[in-house]
Amino acid sequence: MDIKVDLDKHKKLNLNIKEILTNRFTAKWWSDKKVDDEKLQYVLDCAYLAPSKRSEYDYEILVLGDSPKAKEIKDWLYWENSWCYKGERAPEGVDGTPDRRYNGQCQAPVVLVWQGILDRVSYNRFTPRIDEPDLCRDMAISASIAMMAAEEVGLHTGLQSCFEEGMLSEKLGKKGFSYILLGIGDIDKYDHKTIFPDSGHFPGRFVYKDGKHMGFDFGNNPAYDKEVSISRKGKKTKEDIIKFV
Ligand SMILES: Cc1cc2nc3c(=O)[nH]c(=O)nc-3n(C[C@H](O)[C@H](O)[C@H](O)COP(=O)(O)O)c2cc1C
Repeated sequence: MDIKVDLDKHKKLNLNIKEILTNRFTAKWWSDKKVDDEKLQYVLDCAYLAPSKRSEYDYEILVLGDSPKAKEIKDWLYWENSWCYKGERAPEGVDGTPDRRYNGQCQAPVVLVWQGILDRVSYNRFTPRIDEPDLCRDMAISASIAMMAAEEVGLHTGLQSCFEEGMLSEKLGKKGFSYILLGIGDIDKYDHKTIFPDSGHFPGRFVYKDGKHMGFDFGNNPAYDKEVSISRKGKKTKEDIIKFV
């Protein structure tokens, strides 16, 4: 499939779904601009309109905007809970600086969290997904719809599932498990500059905290070229994925 990315698309309205999906990418670096309330309501309406297996809808969509509590949770997620080091999420007892890979999606102006509602989760990292597959499917579908709705109204988006589901639930004061989050907002800029020219060449940015080099994250890189975008390195061809039976 010939894929041509249009960097100006966020200024354009009335794109069809294929154009919206062609131009989207996982956004990680945001501008401070507030998300327009009308647009947010549109996204939430669309997420709400999602279908559900057995019509159960056993989830809530928690909206983390700019309230002090929301900001505290987003910062905790970013700085303490969701960074990765050597393929592991925030490994205990390992400092990981300055090679941590951060997940900027949870720093977006608005972060939506799909929270599976269960009285009791016999918890380990995989149990909700195994015990509650229908609920997980429902939440993934609602999150996908929200992503497309946000992109449709000219916002950027980034999905994130790298965080500890039980600990985030606790922070949110909820029972059950936090399943997936979607960052929504405007990006600050696109990235094209490679940060590790000697080991893997992908656009990204270094992450600093109080002047200290902590790690890095992938850039806001819309390139659909597997050679340029590390996010797309595993992208298969249309023929590999789509089979007529
Ligand atoms: C269900 C789901 C969960 C994801 N979780 C993360 C995540 O935790 N961290 C991350 O950096 N990217 C995450 N992503 C983004 C993927 O890495 C990204 O979609 C993929 O590499 C393709 O790149 P693109 O989104 O730019 O097209 C997630 C994507 C999906 C669909």
